[in-house]
Amino acid sequence: MEKDSFLELLKKRRSCRRFSEKELDDETIKDLLLAANGAPVGSNLNEDIHITVVRDRAVLDELTIAMKRRREDKAALRRITEKVRDGNAAPEKGFDPFYGAPVVIFVSHRIQELQPGIEFSNVMSVAMMMHLEATELGLGSVFMWGSLEAMRMYPEYDHSSALQLPQGFQPLLGLAVGYPEKPIERREINQEKFSVNYL
Ligand SMILES: Cc1cc2nc3c(=O)[nH]c(=O)nc-3n(C[C@H](O)[C@H](O)[C@H](O)COP(=O)(O)O)c2cc1C
Repeated sequence: MEKDSFLELLKKRRSCRRFSEKELDDETIKDLLLAANGAPVGSNLNEDIHITVVRDRAVLDELTIAMKRRREDKAALRRITEKVRDGNAAPEKGFDPFYGAPVVIFVSHRIQELQPGIEFSNVMSVAMMMHLEATELGLGSVFMWGSLEAMRMYPEYDHSSALQLPQGFQPLLGLAVGYPEKPIERREINQEKFSVNYL
């Protein structure tokens, strides 16, 4: 690997929220899953991680119900959006939290009693590998948290059973993937995004 080639990849990484209708073929899905399997997993909890590849729009529609409910709950939405600085939020019309992506890959984790919280780090580790691999393949992708969070907020609208997960697993993060409507533009990395202290 050439020096700086990873940073070059990161300059092309961004969240994509407009996808073309072109489907992803099986080879591409295989590549994404291979990258997922390259992820480091805390405490080697490999057997506690499960991946679901969803191409079925009917399943995604089920997972959209709680998010739609949350959009009607203006007070809850305000509490969240006051903190969210997401300039690329979904357009109001024809609301779809998955932005019409042809594939959404969910990463689920068996809820841990011994090491609470490690689930979230592990699913991000796995999902990030797929996000980067998608970038490398010239695909667009974006993490999907909102629809899963909405199901936790409104258990009566929780349709996560549509994912047919093994017993004891909870979907914690998704990645919507597809061909971007427009080619993804390279951008420089903002070097001052986070505060840093040196000891
Ligand atoms: C944990 C996590 C969850 C996210 N969930 C969503 C989501 O549900 N919907 C969405 O449109 N973007 C989601 N994003 C994307 C962020 O909004 C995005 O990364 C941020 O706006 C910065 O933009 P960039 O990825 O183009 O650099 C999520 C990102 C992360 C890291």
